[in-house]
Amino acid sequence: MTVATVDGIEYLEKNRLLVEDLLRRFLPSEDAKPQSLHRAMRYSTLAGGKRLRPILALAAYQYCGGRPENAESTIYPAMAALEMVHTYSLIHDDLPCMDDDDLRRGIPTCHKKFGEATAVLAGDALHVVAFQLMAQTGSPQAVIELAEAIGTGGMLGGQVADVEAEGRPSNTEQEVEYIHTHKTGMLIRGSVRIGALLANADRETLDRLTAYGLKIGLAFQIIDDILDIEGDQRKLGKQVGSDTKNQKATYPGVIGMPASKEKASRLIDQALALVDTDDDNILKFLARFIGQREN
Ligand code: IPE
Ligand code: IPE
Ligand code: MG
Ligand code: MG
Ligand code: MG
Repeated sequence: MTVATVDGIEYLEKNRLLVEDLLRRFLPSEDAKPQSLHRAMRYSTLAGGKRLRPILALAAYQYCGGRPENAESTIYPAMAALEMVHTYSLIHDDLPCMDDDDLRRGIPTCHKKFGEATAVLAGDALHVVAFQLMAQTGSPQAVIELAEAIGTGGMLGGQVADVEAEGRPSNTEQEVEYIHTHKTGMLIRGSVRIGALLANADRETLDRLTAYGLKIGLAFQIIDDILDIEGDQRKLGKQVGSDTKNQKATYPGVIGMPASKEKASRLIDQALALVDTDDDNILKFLARFIGQREN
Protein backbone atom coordinates (compact mmCIF):
# COMPACT_ATOMS: atom_id res chain seq x y z
CA MET A 1 0.00 0.00 0.00
CA THR A 2 1.45 3.37 -0.95
CA VAL A 3 1.46 6.36 1.34
CA ALA A 4 -1.03 8.06 -0.96
CA THR A 5 -3.47 5.20 -0.48
CA VAL A 6 -3.17 5.43 3.30
CA ASP A 7 -3.86 9.16 3.04
CA GLY A 8 -6.85 8.45 0.83
CA ILE A 9 -8.30 5.95 3.27
CA GLU A 10 -7.81 8.39 6.14
CA TYR A 11 -9.51 11.07 4.08
CA LEU A 12 -12.48 8.80 3.40
CA GLU A 13 -12.85 7.82 7.04
CA LYS A 14 -12.49 11.35 8.40
CA ASN A 15 -15.01 12.76 5.97
CA ARG A 16 -17.41 9.88 6.34
CA LEU A 17 -17.61 10.91 10.01
CA LEU A 18 -18.05 14.53 8.96
CA VAL A 19 -21.00 13.51 6.75
CA GLU A 20 -22.56 11.54 9.65
CA ASP A 21 -22.29 14.65 11.85
CA LEU A 22 -23.81 16.89 9.21
CA LEU A 23 -26.70 14.51 8.63
CA ARG A 24 -27.44 14.20 12.36
CA ARG A 25 -27.43 17.95 12.56
CA PHE A 26 -29.58 18.68 9.51
CA LEU A 27 -32.14 15.86 9.70
CA PRO A 28 -35.33 16.70 11.60
CA SER A 29 -35.42 15.40 15.17
CA GLU A 30 -37.30 12.24 16.09
CA ASP A 31 -38.79 14.18 18.98
CA ALA A 32 -40.54 16.61 16.66
CA LYS A 33 -43.85 15.91 14.97
CA PRO A 34 -44.46 13.94 12.72
CA GLN A 35 -42.27 11.54 14.69
CA SER A 36 -42.94 8.47 12.55
CA LEU A 37 -41.83 10.24 9.39
CA HIS A 38 -38.75 11.74 11.02
CA ARG A 39 -37.87 8.33 12.42
CA ALA A 40 -38.06 6.74 8.96
CA MET A 41 -35.98 9.54 7.41
CA ARG A 42 -33.27 9.13 10.04
CA TYR A 43 -33.40 5.32 9.94
CA SER A 44 -32.49 5.12 6.25
CA THR A 45 -30.15 8.10 6.11
CA LEU A 46 -28.13 7.20 9.20
CA ALA A 47 -27.88 3.50 8.34
CA GLY A 48 -24.37 3.82 6.97
CA GLY A 49 -23.29 3.84 3.37
CA LYS A 50 -20.11 5.01 1.74
CA ARG A 51 -21.15 8.70 1.67
CA LEU A 52 -19.40 8.94 -1.66
CA ARG A 53 -21.45 11.73 -3.21
CA PRO A 54 -20.86 14.26 -0.41
CA ILE A 55 -17.21 13.22 -0.19
CA LEU A 56 -16.81 13.74 -3.94
CA ALA A 57 -18.40 17.17 -3.59
CA LEU A 58 -15.99 18.08 -0.79
CA ALA A 59 -12.98 16.77 -2.71
CA ALA A 60 -13.99 18.80 -5.77
CA TYR A 61 -14.48 21.89 -3.57
CA GLN A 62 -10.98 21.46 -2.14
CA TYR A 63 -9.43 20.61 -5.51
CA CYS A 64 -10.83 23.89 -6.85
CA GLY A 65 -9.42 25.92 -3.96
CA GLY A 66 -12.63 26.29 -1.93
CA ARG A 67 -11.81 28.01 1.36
CA PRO A 68 -12.14 26.06 4.61
CA GLU A 69 -13.62 29.13 6.36
CA ASN A 70 -16.54 29.16 3.90
CA ALA A 71 -17.26 25.44 4.19
CA GLU A 72 -19.80 25.73 7.01
CA SER A 73 -22.10 27.98 4.99
CA THR A 74 -21.58 26.44 1.54
CA ILE A 75 -20.21 22.96 0.97
CA TYR A 76 -21.41 21.46 4.28
CA PRO A 77 -25.15 21.98 3.69
CA ALA A 78 -24.60 20.90 0.07
CA MET A 79 -22.96 17.66 1.25
CA ALA A 80 -25.89 16.83 3.53
CA ALA A 81 -28.31 17.66 0.71
CA LEU A 82 -26.55 15.28 -1.71
CA GLU A 83 -26.64 12.39 0.74
CA MET A 84 -30.32 13.02 1.52
CA VAL A 85 -31.24 13.04 -2.16
CA HIS A 86 -29.27 9.84 -2.66
CA THR A 87 -31.00 8.18 0.31
CA TYR A 88 -34.40 9.27 -0.98
CA SER A 89 -33.55 7.62 -4.31
CA LEU A 90 -32.58 4.39 -2.53
CA ILE A 91 -35.79 4.31 -0.46
CA HIS A 92 -37.93 4.69 -3.58
CA ASP A 93 -35.72 2.35 -5.65
CA ASP A 94 -36.30 -0.44 -3.11
CA LEU A 95 -40.11 -0.16 -3.07
CA PRO A 96 -42.17 -3.15 -4.25
CA CYS A 97 -43.28 -1.17 -7.33
CA MET A 98 -39.62 -0.58 -8.28
CA ASP A 99 -36.90 -3.14 -7.45
CA ASP A 100 -38.75 -4.75 -4.53
CA ASP A 101 -35.73 -5.23 -2.26
CA ASP A 102 -35.79 -6.11 1.43
CA LEU A 103 -32.26 -5.24 2.55
CA ARG A 104 -30.36 -1.95 2.28
CA ARG A 105 -27.21 -0.82 4.04
CA GLY A 106 -27.32 -4.04 6.02
CA ILE A 107 -30.78 -3.50 7.54
CA PRO A 108 -34.40 -3.97 6.37
CA THR A 109 -35.43 -1.46 3.69
CA CYS A 110 -37.50 1.53 4.75
CA HIS A 111 -40.80 0.06 3.52
CA LYS A 112 -40.11 -3.25 5.27
CA LYS A 113 -39.56 -1.43 8.54
CA PHE A 114 -42.17 1.34 8.35
CA GLY A 115 -44.62 0.32 5.60
CA GLU A 116 -44.89 1.53 2.04
CA ALA A 117 -46.79 4.75 2.65
CA THR A 118 -44.28 6.00 5.23
CA ALA A 119 -41.38 4.98 2.98
CA VAL A 120 -42.78 6.96 0.04
CA LEU A 121 -43.28 9.96 2.30
CA ALA A 122 -39.84 9.63 3.92
CA GLY A 123 -38.29 9.74 0.44
CA ASP A 124 -40.40 12.77 -0.46
CA ALA A 125 -39.45 14.50 2.78
CA LEU A 126 -35.72 13.89 2.30
CA HIS A 127 -36.04 15.33 -1.20
CA VAL A 128 -37.61 18.50 0.22
CA VAL A 129 -35.07 18.97 3.03
CA ALA A 130 -32.30 18.48 0.48
CA PHE A 131 -33.46 21.41 -1.66
CA GLN A 132 -33.90 23.56 1.42
CA LEU A 133 -30.29 22.83 2.40
CA MET A 134 -28.98 23.41 -1.10
CA ALA A 135 -30.73 26.80 -1.11
CA GLN A 136 -28.92 27.62 2.15
CA THR A 137 -25.63 27.60 0.25
CA GLY A 138 -26.74 30.91 -1.25
CA SER A 139 -25.89 29.60 -4.71
CA PRO A 140 -28.86 29.43 -7.10
CA GLN A 141 -26.53 27.61 -9.50
CA ALA A 142 -26.06 24.80 -6.98
CA VAL A 143 -29.84 24.44 -6.63
CA ILE A 144 -30.23 24.28 -10.42
CA GLU A 145 -27.43 21.72 -10.63
CA LEU A 146 -29.18 19.48 -8.13
CA ALA A 147 -32.48 19.75 -10.02
CA GLU A 148 -30.77 18.91 -13.31
CA ALA A 149 -28.89 15.99 -11.80
CA ILE A 150 -32.00 14.28 -10.45
CA GLY A 151 -34.81 15.48 -12.74
CA THR A 152 -36.17 13.87 -15.89
CA GLY A 153 -32.95 14.76 -17.71
CA GLY A 154 -31.00 13.01 -14.97
CA MET A 155 -31.70 10.37 -12.31
CA LEU A 156 -35.46 10.17 -12.84
CA GLY A 157 -34.98 9.79 -16.59
CA GLY A 158 -32.64 6.90 -15.91
CA GLN A 159 -34.93 5.30 -13.34
CA VAL A 160 -37.95 5.30 -15.65
CA ALA A 161 -35.86 3.88 -18.51
CA ASP A 162 -34.53 1.24 -16.09
CA VAL A 163 -38.05 0.13 -15.17
CA GLU A 164 -39.21 0.17 -18.80
CA ALA A 165 -36.25 -1.93 -19.92
CA GLU A 166 -37.06 -4.74 -17.44
CA GLY A 167 -37.65 -8.06 -19.16
CA ARG A 168 -36.93 -6.66 -22.64
CA PRO A 169 -34.74 -9.18 -24.44
CA SER A 170 -33.33 -6.70 -26.97
CA ASN A 171 -31.62 -4.05 -24.81
CA THR A 172 -28.62 -2.57 -26.58
CA GLU A 173 -25.40 -1.17 -25.16
CA GLN A 174 -26.61 2.28 -26.13
CA GLU A 175 -29.77 1.80 -24.04
CA VAL A 176 -27.97 0.49 -21.00
CA GLU A 177 -25.48 3.36 -21.25
CA TYR A 178 -28.37 5.82 -21.25
CA ILE A 179 -29.92 4.14 -18.20
CA HIS A 180 -26.70 4.00 -16.19
CA THR A 181 -25.45 7.45 -17.12
CA HIS A 182 -28.76 8.92 -16.03
CA LYS A 183 -29.90 6.87 -13.04
CA THR A 184 -26.50 7.02 -11.33
CA GLY A 185 -23.99 9.00 -13.36
CA MET A 186 -25.83 12.30 -13.29
CA LEU A 187 -25.99 12.61 -9.48
CA ILE A 188 -22.31 11.69 -9.15
CA ARG A 189 -21.43 14.22 -11.85
CA GLY A 190 -23.71 16.74 -10.14
CA SER A 191 -21.98 16.18 -6.79
CA VAL A 192 -18.59 16.96 -8.32
CA ARG A 193 -19.95 19.98 -10.18
CA ILE A 194 -21.65 21.40 -7.08
CA GLY A 195 -18.39 21.16 -5.14
CA ALA A 196 -16.55 22.91 -7.95
CA LEU A 197 -19.22 25.60 -8.38
CA LEU A 198 -19.27 26.40 -4.65
CA ALA A 199 -15.50 26.92 -4.88
CA ASN A 200 -15.96 29.26 -7.85
CA ALA A 201 -13.99 27.01 -10.18
CA ASP A 202 -12.92 28.44 -13.52
CA ARG A 203 -14.63 27.22 -16.70
CA GLU A 204 -11.83 24.90 -17.82
CA THR A 205 -11.64 23.14 -14.45
CA LEU A 206 -15.43 22.84 -14.23
CA ASP A 207 -15.59 21.23 -17.68
CA ARG A 208 -12.81 18.81 -16.81
CA LEU A 209 -14.42 17.83 -13.52
CA THR A 210 -17.78 17.41 -15.25
CA ALA A 211 -16.24 14.86 -17.63
CA TYR A 212 -14.48 13.20 -14.67
CA GLY A 213 -17.78 12.96 -12.76
CA LEU A 214 -19.64 11.36 -15.62
CA LYS A 215 -16.92 8.78 -16.22
CA ILE A 216 -16.65 7.69 -12.60
CA GLY A 217 -20.46 7.80 -12.38
CA LEU A 218 -20.92 5.38 -15.28
CA ALA A 219 -18.11 3.17 -13.96
CA PHE A 220 -19.79 3.21 -10.54
CA GLN A 221 -23.02 1.75 -11.93
CA ILE A 222 -21.27 -0.81 -14.17
CA ILE A 223 -19.46 -2.03 -11.05
CA ASP A 224 -22.77 -2.06 -9.16
CA ASP A 225 -24.10 -4.43 -11.83
CA ILE A 226 -20.98 -6.60 -11.55
CA LEU A 227 -21.28 -6.73 -7.75
CA ASP A 228 -24.93 -7.78 -8.07
CA ILE A 229 -23.54 -10.97 -9.66
CA GLU A 230 -20.12 -11.46 -8.08
CA GLY A 231 -20.35 -9.46 -4.87
CA ASP A 232 -20.61 -10.57 -1.26
CA GLN A 233 -23.97 -9.77 0.30
CA ARG A 234 -22.43 -9.19 3.76
CA LYS A 235 -20.03 -6.60 2.38
CA LEU A 236 -22.65 -5.01 0.12
CA GLY A 237 -25.39 -4.79 2.76
CA LYS A 238 -27.95 -5.50 0.03
CA GLN A 239 -29.13 -8.68 -1.60
CA VAL A 240 -27.17 -9.91 -4.60
CA GLY A 241 -29.10 -11.22 -7.58
CA SER A 242 -31.66 -8.40 -7.49
CA ASP A 243 -31.02 -7.52 -11.16
CA THR A 244 -31.43 -11.12 -12.31
CA LYS A 245 -34.65 -11.43 -10.30
CA ASN A 246 -36.01 -8.31 -11.98
CA GLN A 247 -34.60 -9.06 -15.46
CA LYS A 248 -32.85 -5.69 -15.46
CA ALA A 249 -30.88 -4.23 -18.33
CA THR A 250 -27.31 -4.46 -17.01
CA TYR A 251 -23.84 -4.16 -18.50
CA PRO A 252 -22.89 -7.80 -17.87
CA GLY A 253 -26.25 -8.85 -19.36
CA VAL A 254 -25.79 -6.78 -22.51
CA ILE A 255 -22.03 -6.89 -23.25
CA GLY A 256 -20.88 -9.75 -20.98
CA MET A 257 -18.81 -9.83 -17.80
CA PRO A 258 -15.26 -9.47 -19.22
CA ALA A 259 -16.23 -6.54 -21.45
CA SER A 260 -18.05 -4.88 -18.52
CA LYS A 261 -14.92 -5.08 -16.37
CA GLU A 262 -12.78 -3.70 -19.17
CA LYS A 263 -15.23 -0.88 -19.78
CA ALA A 264 -15.27 0.10 -16.08
CA SER A 265 -11.49 0.10 -15.85
CA ARG A 266 -11.14 2.11 -19.07
CA LEU A 267 -13.55 4.72 -17.69
CA ILE A 268 -11.53 4.96 -14.46
CA ASP A 269 -8.31 5.45 -16.45
CA GLN A 270 -9.95 8.19 -18.49
CA ALA A 271 -11.21 9.84 -15.29
CA LEU A 272 -7.72 9.70 -13.77
CA ALA A 273 -6.24 11.43 -16.81
CA LEU A 274 -8.72 14.28 -16.35
CA VAL A 275 -7.47 15.09 -12.84
CA ASP A 276 -3.80 14.36 -13.43
CA THR A 277 -2.80 17.86 -12.40
CA ASP A 278 -0.42 17.10 -9.58
CA ASP A 279 1.34 14.11 -8.09
CA ASP A 280 -1.52 12.80 -6.10
CA ASN A 281 -4.86 14.23 -5.17
CA ILE A 282 -8.00 12.94 -3.57
CA LEU A 283 -10.02 12.98 -6.78
CA LYS A 284 -7.54 10.47 -8.20
CA PHE A 285 -7.81 8.35 -5.08
CA LEU A 286 -11.62 8.43 -5.23
CA ALA A 287 -11.64 7.35 -8.90
CA ARG A 288 -9.38 4.40 -8.06
CA PHE A 289 -11.48 3.60 -5.01
CA ILE A 290 -14.63 3.43 -7.15
CA GLY A 291 -12.81 1.17 -9.61
CA GLN A 292 -11.84 -1.27 -6.87
CA ARG A 293 -14.83 -1.12 -4.57
CA GLU A 294 -16.39 -4.25 -3.11
CA ASN A 295 -19.37 -2.56 -1.53
C1 IPE B 1 -26.27 2.49 -4.45
O1 IPE B 1 -25.41 3.54 -4.20
C2 IPE B 1 -27.18 2.85 -5.57
C3 IPE B 1 -26.49 3.07 -6.84
C4 IPE B 1 -26.51 4.21 -7.43
C5 IPE B 1 -25.80 1.97 -7.47
P1 IPE B 1 -24.16 3.39 -3.22
O2 IPE B 1 -23.41 2.15 -3.58
O3 IPE B 1 -23.41 4.66 -3.20
O4 IPE B 1 -24.87 3.13 -1.82
P2 IPE B 1 -24.45 3.57 -0.35
O5 IPE B 1 -24.78 5.02 -0.23
O6 IPE B 1 -23.00 3.29 -0.15
O7 IPE B 1 -25.34 2.74 0.54
C1 IPE C 1 -30.09 2.50 -8.40
O1 IPE C 1 -29.65 1.52 -9.25
C2 IPE C 1 -30.02 3.86 -8.93
C3 IPE C 1 -30.76 4.77 -8.06
C4 IPE C 1 -31.13 4.51 -6.83
C5 IPE C 1 -31.10 6.05 -8.58
P1 IPE C 1 -29.82 0.06 -8.65
O2 IPE C 1 -31.26 -0.31 -8.52
O3 IPE C 1 -28.94 -0.87 -9.40
O4 IPE C 1 -29.20 0.25 -7.17
P2 IPE C 1 -29.16 -0.85 -6.05
O5 IPE C 1 -28.41 -2.03 -6.64
O6 IPE C 1 -30.57 -1.17 -5.71
O7 IPE C 1 -28.39 -0.21 -4.94
MG1 MG D 1 -33.03 0.19 -9.45
MG1 MG E 1 -32.20 -1.29 -6.86
MG1 MG F 1 -27.81 -2.44 -8.49
